[in-house]
This record gives sequence, structure tokens and C-alpha cells, in this order.
Amino acid sequence: MDSAHQRPSNGLLITFEGGEGSGKSTQLDRLAEWLEERGHPVTTAREPGTTATGEAVRRILLETATDDLVPEAEFALFLAARAQLAGEVIRPALEEGRIVLIDRYGDSSTAYQGYGRGLDPATIARLNRWATRDLEPDLTVLIDVGFEEGVARRRHREPDRLERLGPAFHERVREGYRELARNHPGRFCVIEGERSIDEIQETIRERVRGLLSTSTRRRTAT
Ligand code: ADP
Ligand code: TYD
Repeated sequence: MDSAHQRPSNGLLITFEGGEGSGKSTQLDRLAEWLEERGHPVTTAREPGTTATGEAVRRILLETATDDLVPEAEFALFLAARAQLAGEVIRPALEEGRIVLIDRYGDSSTAYQGYGRGLDPATIARLNRWATRDLEPDLTVLIDVGFEEGVARRRHREPDRLERLGPAFHERVREGYRELARNHPGRFCVIEGERSIDEIQETIRERVRGLLSTSTRRRTAT
């Protein structure tokens, strides 16, 4: 493995996944605040977005692309945004020992373009690793909520191109996420999204406390 592919050993990468309106950004913001209050340097980002390229891709995918965009093209655009975020934001932050919190990452493509759109999930996962030069999350918080509940929470907003896809699509996405979590039990923390915001945050903090104590032990040991 060449040095560009080595995982920076000091920082932590935590990703937030789930369906529409599952509460990811609410939980991410609260966790960022809690970590910062405890003196940890935190970097936050969202996918697709944050970098200039990512925000441009976001506008194409969520606003201007037509409904006949083929799944491969959709995935390639999400992947381009992810590669840029990994190189420009995530890797440098991890190298500085920061805790990086991202609203959606590679598992979103596996769930939406794989299980949802019908592309091969294993190919997507492999290309995610290629595009990010193996920057895998230390922890993935999956907030599991039904599509109807998610839509009800976001009814004040105009739905974007992917939100307009029907309940059957979003049910496949939800099942896909659950399968990913079953396949990676060490990385995933699955939380029932219909619990209160405070209860969900407490479960996440519990998990992050564990991660912080292991990573401190790892650092002191090296
Ligand atoms: P996401 O980032 O997953 O799309 P948001 O964090 O933006 O979701 O939350 C969508 C809406 O649902 C917001 O109005 C938020 O206040 C509300 N919300 C978030 N978590 C919960 C929860 N556990 N119970 C009830 N409402 C919630
Ligand atoms: P966003 O408004 O960020 O949704 P949410 O608030 O639910 O996170 O829009 C991102 C949309 O893009 C969402 O419908 C999920 C979808 N998406 C994919 O289909 N594949 C991906 O790889 C990513 C990152 C997002």
C-alpha cells in the first residue's frame, strides 16, 4: 500500500446515514457541539457538498438532472463529489487529528444507487474505497426511520429529485442500510429513529465515548 492510501492514524471519521428526514443533521450538529465543548477539534461536512465541486454536483443531482439520468451516471456524480471531499477535506483533517463528522458518505451510494436503483452493491462499495483511497469510517451511525415518518417531518420543504421517488424505492434503501449494518456490525451503530432527539443523541455519545477511549489508548501505545 503506498502512503497516499494509508489511513491517517490520529483522527476519527464518523458518518451519519439513514433515509430522508431521519434526523441525521440534527444529531450531527449536537454531537459536534458536545465534542467541541470537550476540547476536541471537529470538522463537519455533508454529501454531496461542502467542496465547490461537491456543491455543484449537488445542484445537478438534486435539482437540474432529469428523471432519465441512468443509475451509473448518478453514481459517478456522487462518487466524484465523494472523491473530492475525501482528498480536500477528510484526509487533511484526519491527518491533523481532527474528528470528522459527515452527513452521508459511501454507504448512501450503496443503499440508494445499489439497493435502491439496482446497481451491484459490492461494486459500489469497491468503487467507494477506490475514490476515497480507502478512507473508511471508524463509526457509522444509522438512524433507521420509516419513509412516511421521514416525509412527515419534512413536509414544509419541496421534495428534491430523489425524495420524489416513491415508498417502494425508499423501502429498498432502508432494507439495504439494514443489510449493510448486519454485514459490518463493528462499524455500524443502528438507532431506532422514532425515539426522541435526546435519547438518540445519548446513544450516539455513549458509542463515541467508547471510541475516544480506545483511540486514546491506541495513540498512547504507539
Ligand atoms: P435529515 O438530516 O436526516 O434529513 P433532519 O435532522 O434535518 O434530518 O431532521 C428533519 C426534521 O425532523 C427536523 O425538523 C428535525 O427537527 C426533526 N427531527 C429530527 N429528529 C427527530 C426525532 N428523533 N423525533 C422527531 N423529530 C425529529
Ligand atoms: P439531502 O438533502 O442531503 O438529504 P438528507 O437531508 O436526507 O440527507 O439530499 C441528499 C440526497 O441524495 C438524498 O436523497 C440521498 C441522496 N444520495 C444518494 O442517492 N447517493 C449518495 O451517494 C448520497 C451521498 C446521497
